[in-house]
Amino acid sequence: MHPSTIAIDGPAASGKSTIGAAVAEKLGYLYFDTGVMYRAVTRIALARSIPIENEAAVTALADQVQIDFLKPTVDDGRQYTILADGTDITWDIRSRAVDANVSPVSAYAGVRRAMTQQQRRIGLQGRVVMVGRDIGTVVLPEADLKIYLDASEEERARRRHRERVARGEPVDLAAVRQEIRKRDQIDSSRAVAPLKQADDAIYLDSTGLDVPEVIARVMQLVQAGQLVH
Ligand code: DC
Repeated sequence: MHPSTIAIDGPAASGKSTIGAAVAEKLGYLYFDTGVMYRAVTRIALARSIPIENEAAVTALADQVQIDFLKPTVDDGRQYTILADGTDITWDIRSRAVDANVSPVSAYAGVRRAMTQQQRRIGLQGRVVMVGRDIGTVVLPEADLKIYLDASEEERARRRHRERVARGEPVDLAAVRQEIRKRDQIDSSRAVAPLKQADDAIYLDSTGLDVPEVIARVMQLVQAGQLVH
């Protein structure tokens, strides 16, 4: 039997979203990218000029804002549509300003509590591929299959740089690499639910592999019914 809950964790730009979405589609499962929730809170805080260092205000916002994760409502290459209190912020959450501020927001305990609760409720319904940093360790420790997807920092920077250029945002490769390094450092060292491989996760290094190759490896694990507990 196929695993019903699949957790994919890993550092920034390791390919989690691309791989997670493709695997979910093949299996007919829901694809849920949990990073989007932290990005949405960050985006709304910036839009409302709430200082990111004001933990109480950012946490209050996370408790109040309604984030909806829908199937794509516009045919513009998006994997899903994200609404925050009804406003479409699907592309806004990918801005550099959000990239630069999302790690501190996601390190706040109260923000994580609000987001984790919602993620767990969705995950427990099953038939889901959930992607993030703490899915296998905190959100769904009982997941049937856990994968820790990694790639070298250099390769991850190249991938993110290519994405940015394709979106018409010229940016320096060295700057992208620096941003990724900083984000990984904050995500791995925070007190609550840091990025780390679950003891029972399967480590998959995608450095030097193309997207179809990584999808094939994950599907092999799924088909082998690798139940991890
Ligand atoms: O995967 P991403 O780049 O969209 O994630 C954005 C940020 O959100 C990332 O820097 C860390 C945080 N995050 C988290 O703390 N826990 C998750 N489950 C997913 C993302």
